[in-house]
Amino acid sequence: MKILAIETSCDETAAAIVEDGRKVLSNVISSQADFHARYGGVIPEMAARQHLETVNYVVQDALSQANVSLEEVDAVAATLGPGLVGALLVGATAAKTLHLLTNKPFYGVNHLHAHVASNYLDSTLEPPFLCLLVSGGHSQILHIPDYQTIRILGETLDDAVGEAYDKVARILGLGYPGGPIIDKLAQQGNPKAYPLPQAKTAEPFDFSFSGLKTAVLRTYERELAAGIATEAILADLAASFQHAAVAALVKKTLLAAESLQLKTIAVAGGVAANSALRKQFEAEISTRPGWRFFIPALKYCTDNAAMVGAAAYFNPLTQDIGMEVFSRS
Ligand code: KG4
Ligand code: ZN
Repeated sequence: MKILAIETSCDETAAAIVEDGRKVLSNVISSQADFHARYGGVIPEMAARQHLETVNYVVQDALSQANVSLEEVDAVAATLGPGLVGALLVGATAAKTLHLLTNKPFYGVNHLHAHVASNYLDSTLEPPFLCLLVSGGHSQILHIPDYQTIRILGETLDDAVGEAYDKVARILGLGYPGGPIIDKLAQQGNPKAYPLPQAKTAEPFDFSFSGLKTAVLRTYERELAAGIATEAILADLAASFQHAAVAALVKKTLLAAESLQLKTIAVAGGVAANSALRKQFEAEISTRPGWRFFIPALKYCTDNAAMVGAAAYFNPLTQDIGMEVFSRS
């Protein structure tokens, strides 16, 4: 079954052709990141307009790179939410128009479900497993007992971890999006240079990152006031922030897996691209016999349409609703 999938929930205009939920025949992404960088973040109305200008070309590219004609597609899918409303409307309208033109079924997909499903692409992963979903909008520990069910075990009480990366990058004057910039800079710094706090939460699998972000701000201000040069601070502070953020993510995910007696862990979302997070998980899992660790290829971590095609295939529940498929257990 070949699905033509479209993703426009934030600032990537993306289309893909995915066969049977796992085989990616094409995965086209047109990023608006450079456009929004000058404003230090995504401007929702501008994002929608950019999607409108790009979506037809991206869909055409996805079809031609997969060498598949519209007639050969079995279904169309698009992200319905959560995301920027105007941006979502563009992709959803494009997919629904194709559905009306071709009479192929339309599947609406939940964006978070799609991030989880990115782990099925080019992989053999099957439920049950535990998924750490870390993006610009979410930080959640999810239990996936079967293809149709997602249970939230814990989530952030304030900032998402990707949001914290972006805000810390802004505090340090490093540009947007902050995640990849801090990830790179941290590799030149000492993660133990500045001891930063790890938040305690009432529920064991919840996260909190806003205190950490404020601690970075205060530390930066204090060091500058003490006359230390910016260049002498940045890499160490980036590394210390990343160390604290990654430690919380890995520790709580492993704790949740142990409490559910699950030995398969997957990571998804834009922050799954983080090199320290990958390394830390791999190191921990390698010391636990029988445990397995899945992480999508970098191109499937940040927003893309291939994951939307996988979610549409594996989760028929999302066909009509697209939203509200999660429940907190
Ligand atoms: O999943 P995604 O593309 O969009 C959302 O649904 O939010 O995630 C984007 C987030 C941004 O906050 C970005 O800074 C972060 O993922 N990110 C990273 C890295 N690459 C992207 N964070 C840490 N390290 C990275 N290498
Ligand atoms: Zn996303």
